Amino acid sequence: MKTRSLGTLQVPAIGFGAMVLSPGVYGDIDDARAEAALKAALDSGAAHVDTSDAYGTNGHNERLVGRAIKGRRDEVVVATKFGLAIPEGEPSRSHPVGYAYKELRVNAHPALVRGYAERSLRNLDTDVIDLYYAHYPDPGVPIEDTVGAMADLVKDGLINHVGLSNVTAAQLRAAHAVHPVTAVQNEWSMWRPVDADLLAAARELGVGIVAWSPLGTGFLTGTVQSLEDGDFRHNAPRFSARNLAANNDSYAPIRALAAQLSITPAQLALAWLLHQDEHVVTIPGSRAPAHILENLLAADLTLHPDTLARVDEALTKFDVTGATLL
Ligand SMILES: NC(=O)c1ccc[n+]([C@@H]2O[C@H](COP(=O)([O-])OP(=O)(O)OC[C@H]3O[C@@H](n4cnc5c(N)ncnc54)[C@H](OP(=O)(O)O)[C@@H]3O)[C@@H](O)[C@H]2O)c1
Repeated sequence: MKTRSLGTLQVPAIGFGAMVLSPGVYGDIDDARAEAALKAALDSGAAHVDTSDAYGTNGHNERLVGRAIKGRRDEVVVATKFGLAIPEGEPSRSHPVGYAYKELRVNAHPALVRGYAERSLRNLDTDVIDLYYAHYPDPGVPIEDTVGAMADLVKDGLINHVGLSNVTAAQLRAAHAVHPVTAVQNEWSMWRPVDADLLAAARELGVGIVAWSPLGTGFLTGTVQSLEDGDFRHNAPRFSARNLAANNDSYAPIRALAAQLSITPAQLALAWLLHQDEHVVTIPGSRAPAHILENLLAADLTLHPDTLARVDEALTKFDVTGATLL
């Protein structure tokens, strides 16, 4: 697997997003299936696993990852996040989001940061977190203060690299002035353009980009016709029955382009992302070993500039119906 640099951290161009492996995200899933998916990802070279203390209940996702990396810790870059799984009794602030929950509750106060990290280390059953993100900026706390507490974790050896997720360019710049930020993790895919100011700031500061939901939570694979019960995308406007049908129609030219290239739409979506910047990496999630392998093969695809121009032209006509998640 080709690697890329996020600041001073080397990771595979395509890693693995573990959120899909906890129940209540894309419907039900048991631990045996989740563990098989993680094993398939690691065995196939997706040695950058992205989790969060907020995926699943009581650290379920981190504990899954902890079991999967047992005995092979040195092979894997482990990334996790804090700020949404708030200890009982602590206050929280509202971060508005575009899907039906309307808001997420955040607490990234510096006084809680060490406790979050220690809890994640226990869940992951490891001594150090390679890349530790503030999951969302806390509207009630200057980002400099959150990152100041993260810098102390680096100094004390609990984490190796500082990351930020769902931030603006201004927040990245303010945080980077306190401590070097290795990566920002924001949504970026064929149906969610990157924030141009954030991309420019990341390039200027030498900060890597980790694109979350690179497959548009599955839509860009071209395989989603309907949703099962218990799937969180029921809350996402782009997946309402009417919008999903319209979006699938509008996406047809890009599916056709993938077919002409003899690759899958998922592979085209991932390869296209990797061609946007040399310091972008992706973390698609899947419960299916065959999908995981299919996705990882996209890291080896080189898209000719003419092909990229055709994709970009098709994307200008890809008229997406329904609000974004954030
Ligand atoms: N920082 C943040 O705020 C944030 C927010 C959201 C996500 N993330 C990160 O980004 C990671 C990935 O995001 P995501 O899970 O939301 O979305 P995603 O990776 O864009 O899409 C996952 C969906 O795509 C399907 N899929 C994957 N590969 C496929 C293939 N080759 N063919 C057909 N279907 C395929 C999966 O279903 P199957 O299981 O059936 O393959 C799953 O339903 C998460 O795990 C998490 O680490 C971060």
